[in-house]
Amino acid sequence: MSSSAVDYARQNHPRFLDELKAFLRIPSVSTDPEHKSDCRRAAAVLAADLAAIGLQNVRLIETAGHPLVYGDWLHAAGKPTVLCYGHYDVQPPDPLDEWLSPPFEPTERNGNLYARGAVDDKGQVWAQVKALESLLAATGKLPINVRVLMEGEEEVGGEGIAAYVASNPPDLKADFALVSDTELFAPGLPTLCVGLRGMIYTELEVRGAKTDLHSGMYGGAAPNPFVSLAQILARLKDEDGHILIPGFYDDIIPPSPEELAAWRSLPFDEEHYRISEVGSRQLVGEAGYSVLERTWARPTLDVHGIPGGFIGAGAKTVIPAKALAKVSMRLVPGMTPAKTFAQYKGFVEKIAPAGVDIEVRLIHSGDPCLIPVDNPYIQAATRALHEVWGKDTVFIRSGGSIPIVGDFDRHLGLPSVMMGFGLPDDNLHAPNEKFHLRNFELGIESVVRFLEEAGR
Ligand code: BES
Ligand code: MN
Ligand code: MN
Repeated sequence: MSSSAVDYARQNHPRFLDELKAFLRIPSVSTDPEHKSDCRRAAAVLAADLAAIGLQNVRLIETAGHPLVYGDWLHAAGKPTVLCYGHYDVQPPDPLDEWLSPPFEPTERNGNLYARGAVDDKGQVWAQVKALESLLAATGKLPINVRVLMEGEEEVGGEGIAAYVASNPPDLKADFALVSDTELFAPGLPTLCVGLRGMIYTELEVRGAKTDLHSGMYGGAAPNPFVSLAQILARLKDEDGHILIPGFYDDIIPPSPEELAAWRSLPFDEEHYRISEVGSRQLVGEAGYSVLERTWARPTLDVHGIPGGFIGAGAKTVIPAKALAKVSMRLVPGMTPAKTFAQYKGFVEKIAPAGVDIEVRLIHSGDPCLIPVDNPYIQAATRALHEVWGKDTVFIRSGGSIPIVGDFDRHLGLPSVMMGFGLPDDNLHAPNEKFHLRNFELGIESVVRFLEEAGR
């Protein structure tokens, strides 16, 4: 493999890593209003670097939330145009006391870089940007036309970028998208992700009495919203993991026999997954489906938290006036957020116990997606990955969601190449998130070689 841009990337790797660390020190937690200015600061750092490496028309695009970052380089006449996507926002770092080094002080340990956002997704954003820098610095140009569009609200549903993409601005005219926000199936195994689950994220509020009440004076006569909430939640799923909302499974398009056969040939060890990734006594879920089918091709219903009531130290005898549950459902191809939400809301209202009022709210939603693989960009990607990793690419789906990927297809007609460099044990959204440093290096080289191949 001879590529002067790859040589440049190797020579400049220590600096690339230092820059990534500086980027990771900014706590761009999108869900927390206290970090609004940090999100803007991360966007500004990203924009400044895009301009410094030689992209043009670099600017922040304002949204109702955190800004988008845009830049382009459109001088490869006759060549295709890529839209490079990633997100600069991160998940909250809690629980803080479980981190071995502080989440916003990036630290190298045993070949990994530990920090919140290391792999999801600042490290992968930086890999894309440093690949562009390497190409521009080493060759004075890019092999294809490039537009960069990064968001700062992916972890909270991506409403801002969704509105921008839906308006189909001339700025986003491209032939395909390059999305670096996914994982390798296993260490050293080049992977393209071709499907993501969608989701609806909801809040379920249950209200009983008009105010909190003494549980001795009123207990037995006043409705308890936490008990009602527990009764509702317990009726959403049976003990075999089957979701009981009527019609919930009706529209699912199952994977083809060929795709299922390909999944069966992936190197997957269920016991290893149970012990070292999940760490539970046993795995649960729908009988008759493999773990990969359950996490990639079947929908879920999960409860994330039940805030409210008395949670202080000691005891307080109170009947809370209201209770809340944060409930999300992951959707698979065929399902739509609007229909699933209506089914869920209707069912919850129907089974609500007497004496309480129910409110079901939609917080955010995104469609599932399946990416076509019969296009020259996927082929260019597998050629590039073979050179960099020395192996044939595996095609997988992921159980996670990246809401904007479906919109790239629906609104802009772009197929996405989801080329990501995380590892299954990188602790996304958890304490001690990391990016394997070798994957950062090879990620940069993969993007360099991919853009070169896409321009051939
Ligand atoms: N990068 C992840 C999604 C992902 C994880 C894809 C692992 C492939 C493998 C993304 O940042 C994410 O966490 N998305 C959220 C989206 C949600 C808040 C709308 C998710 O999946 O929970
Ligand atoms: Mn991500
Ligand atoms: Mn994430």
